[in-house]
Amino acid sequence: MKVIKLPTPQDVTNYLAQLIIKQIKENPQSVIGLATGSTPTLAYHELVKDSLLNNSNYENITTFNLDKYVGIDDKNVNSYRYFMNENLFNYINIKEGNTFFPSSNLTNDRFDNYDELIKLKGGIDLQVLGIGENGHIGFNEPQTNKETLTHKVKLSKNTIKNNSRFFDSIDEVPKYAVTMGIKSILNSRKIVLAATGVKKAKIIEKLIYGDITVDLPASFLKTHKDVIIIVDDNAGMNIKEKDYEKSKWNDIASSRR
Ligand code: GLP
Repeated sequence: MKVIKLPTPQDVTNYLAQLIIKQIKENPQSVIGLATGSTPTLAYHELVKDSLLNNSNYENITTFNLDKYVGIDDKNVNSYRYFMNENLFNYINIKEGNTFFPSSNLTNDRFDNYDELIKLKGGIDLQVLGIGENGHIGFNEPQTNKETLTHKVKLSKNTIKNNSRFFDSIDEVPKYAVTMGIKSILNSRKIVLAATGVKKAKIIEKLIYGDITVDLPASFLKTHKDVIIIVDDNAGMNIKEKDYEKSKWNDIASSRR
């Protein structure tokens, strides 16, 4: 696991965006795993900017979103489909038919096995992740085991409380979601997890220095051979200098000049 610490959330955003752009440039048919949440949002805006400025081609990429609420249809402003449309898909030349979300009605969906569909499309080349304050990735809450594929979950109180900021009231937050499992995520070829802000400092410290445990689902990332964790100074405030790579920052900084 490589840890990269950058000064500000904006730097994290830029770095994340550059990684995605690089992946797509190298392979215009890339399969990208996408996350929602505030952390990757600005990186998606960077992709939009890049597409406008450089005419980047997203026509042949395929995307798989990590998760989806149960009981919220795609037109609802709080649905993750709506979120992705508004923050990325509507502004790049991606084909709608190439953008996938887990089905909240698993048994009736033609591709009721999301993991099979991912495999059919060649597997995820680059998976983007945020992290919940309780260590969840996607909606894999603490106590999720590492063999899980896409499945339905009951959201924890903590997640419902944290995500209530996007809703008019906490009662409107769905109690269930469908998420790619830990194994689905670990099947990706490359994984990048971004975290910013003091609120993430404790969980990032545990992730870097703690054991691999079901108490912290993100800790299973340590069993994968190609994972980058990008944090800003605040989220990485408890990480010792010797444990992160500074040089990478220079690469990205120079590519932006
Ligand atoms: C949600 C999403 C996760 C995301 C997490 C953190 O619960 N399901 O995929 O990582 O929020 O979001 P944020 O980046 O807003 O802190």
